[in-house]
Amino acid sequence: MSRRRRIYEGKAKVLYEGPEPGLLVQYFKDDATAFNNEKKGVIEGKGVLNNRISEYLMTRLAEIGVPTHFVRRLNMREQLIREVEIVPVEVVIRNVAAGSISKRLGIAEGTPLPRSIVEYYYKNDELGDPMISEEHITAFGWAGPQEIDDMLSISLRVNDFLNGLFVSVGIRLVDFKLEFGRLWHGEEMRIVLADEISPDSCRLWDMNSDEKLDKDRFRRDLGDVAEAYQEVARRLGIMPEANVKEFRPVGASGPTDIGGPTSPAKPVDSPGKVS
Ligand code: TMP
Ligand code: ASP
Repeated sequence: MSRRRRIYEGKAKVLYEGPEPGLLVQYFKDDATAFNNEKKGVIEGKGVLNNRISEYLMTRLAEIGVPTHFVRRLNMREQLIREVEIVPVEVVIRNVAAGSISKRLGIAEGTPLPRSIVEYYYKNDELGDPMISEEHITAFGWAGPQEIDDMLSISLRVNDFLNGLFVSVGIRLVDFKLEFGRLWHGEEMRIVLADEISPDSCRLWDMNSDEKLDKDRFRRDLGDVAEAYQEVARRLGIMPEANVKEFRPVGASGPTDIGGPTSPAKPVDSPGKVS
């Protein structure tokens, strides 16, 4: 691994030159950052879990026809991906108020949104990924109108599909962030899903207890971060049971009903329109 040419190093992943032109190797680190690099930490085993979870979700999405950069998983921490030109726009899809929308608009966390809300952020660490509108994206040439259309329709499709998939394992998909890339075939270009989909980039809440099963455990110092990611993997059926330590957040008393494929999710009390 160390002899391969490193193309790019981000906060949680490294990209290496692939085995042939047009392919890259995406390596998942255990490093975690939050609040634009202000808070740093290492979550042991996170890279392995995110590699598996992202593989699983990208594969399920490809099966329903969503174009992605994912080719195949290579080992515990690496996956083969197609080289794309990353669009410098992060697309956030929200179903339930949490995080920055709650703060910005004063909506209590956990409030179902009247409909799914899509937001765009300019991917620029120096500026702290500021929120932008379609106007900014087209005016500054970060993406064209057709590309925005493609990103939006893929995002809504991903949201519908992942909502159902997570509900079936007792998890509420509160919100998530997607990144897209331009994949070139000679003169032809198409927009594909890139980066990763994992508890680093989603808010995932247990449907019974509202327990957080995502990176907010790290951002908010809630503890048991790796255990929460492992719980997501376990519910999705992608971790060998033997390796799984039961997720029991600090402060929880007695046995917790952690749901899963065999224990159907409790219906949402006041469901918002989530798709
Ligand atoms: P936010 O509420 O902080 O704006 O985050 C919305 C969603 O986007 C949440 O699921 C976490 C994800 N996200 C990232 O993946 N990367 C980021 O840099 C930020 C700020 C959020
Ligand atoms: N990934 C971003 C950072 O490193 C923010 C976040 O996920 O909270 O700062």
